[in-house]
Amino acid sequence: MAEQLILEGKSREERYRELYPQLRALLSVETDRIANLANMAAALRQTFGFFWVGFYLVSERELVLGPFQGDIACTRIPYGRGVCGDAWAQGQTLVVPDVESYPGHIACSSLSRSEVVVPIYDRSGEIMGVLDIDSQEVGDFSEELDRPWLELYVGLLAPLFP
Ligand code: SME
Repeated sequence: MAEQLILEGKSREERYRELYPQLRALLSVETDRIANLANMAAALRQTFGFFWVGFYLVSERELVLGPFQGDIACTRIPYGRGVCGDAWAQGQTLVVPDVESYPGHIACSSLSRSEVVVPIYDRSGEIMGVLDIDSQEVGDFSEELDRPWLELYVGLLAPLFP
């Protein structure tokens, strides 16, 4: 598998569509969790130019920083705190159009203005971590486009969380 992505689409939707099979192929030839999370973070950032893309993984009652692309970030997030901790506690994807209006938002960077957090489930339905993406633009993520695509992408991680 060539370690190169081929992306020609102009719109975000076209890019989600083009990247998906390439990332699926890339992840399918590796079984290591860290390696695959790292490549997914890199592929999403490289494709869309998001400000920060990364994973937080559940460790006891906290989310601990995992593989990511972007500036250094907060390392531990308690259950039910911030957007990530809320997505974990509520068991659902959270799209936050303006982080400054979100009560309890954890500002790892003052440059982050909108955010989407997608939970990662194991086979028994327990949340094992979250994918967190930050943008410098207000309202950069939508329930209609980004949410379903990113949930599909996170589905590619299922073999890593049996
Ligand atoms: N803003 C997140 C914290 C993680 S950083 O954005 C990388 C939150 O409120 O959970």
